[in-house]
Amino acid sequence: MTVQIIVGDAREQLTKLPDSSVDLVLTDPPYGETSLAWDRWVVGWPSLVRRVLKPTGSMWVFGSARMFLAAAAEFGGWRFAQDVVWEKHNGSGFHADRFKRVHENAYQFYRDDAAWADVYKDPQYTPDAVARAVRRKRRPVHMGHAGQSVYRSEDGGPRLMRSVIWARSEHGRAEHPTQKPLAIIEPLLLYACPPGGVVLDPFGGSGTTAIAAQRHSRDAILIELNSEYAAMARRRIDGDAPLFAGAAE
Ligand SMILES: C[S@@+](CC[C@H](N)C(=O)[O-])C[C@H]1O[C@@H](n2cnc3c(N)ncnc32)[C@H](O)[C@@H]1O
Repeated sequence: MTVQIIVGDAREQLTKLPDSSVDLVLTDPPYGETSLAWDRWVVGWPSLVRRVLKPTGSMWVFGSARMFLAAAAEFGGWRFAQDVVWEKHNGSGFHADRFKRVHENAYQFYRDDAAWADVYKDPQYTPDAVARAVRRKRRPVHMGHAGQSVYRSEDGGPRLMRSVIWARSEHGRAEHPTQKPLAIIEPLLLYACPPGGVVLDPFGGSGTTAIAAQRHSRDAILIELNSEYAAMARRRIDGDAPLFAGAAE
């Protein structure tokens, strides 16, 4: 599998990629909510990325509700498919007078010239359904049924993954200031990118999307403005799978 890392501004680099050439866009763009120097909404990126996506593809975008509301007009040309909540073990304390924020959102979109039925999807399952005791009430005595309620155990087993996904944040171990954990990227990638397909992350950061792709036999294209972050991504990707080190630049 190959990982291509392009250093540059997504707005410029996206215009160089061929039409309808990637199966999935999975990205964590600047939300425009922190004081980090690069954290400014990149105007126009959702339109630029749409051309590069196959009509059967889709796009997962991380963000906050505030970000999506502020940028709603930027998502013309897209249809909303569903949202997932990433529940973190800790939160960001931007505001002392609001609920402590311990989640982020990921919204899935698909092209507005496509039918949802044709969009690639592979529903994900978790093995975490637990065995539970179920109380079955008997009909009352006056209906001719003496006896107690019956308890019976129903086994656990695989069940559809739920839209709220708990994953430890990378707080304290991240190399990049907004590094996402693999545990939240992997289910979104597996759901929306076919095996052997190509995932594009136009705001690649430290390369988490590419690590997930490499682990699951998908190719990845990252674009990242900051050359230090791009080098960090290459290091992390090669470190995660030394056998494939430097497979493509
Ligand atoms: C939220 S971070 C992504 C973090 C990534 N998900 C990870 O796990 O490391 C967004 C990234 O977009 C980059 N960025 C900001 N403006 C950009 C632009 N115009 N073109 C390409 N990358 C940009 C920033 O340098 C930053 O690394």
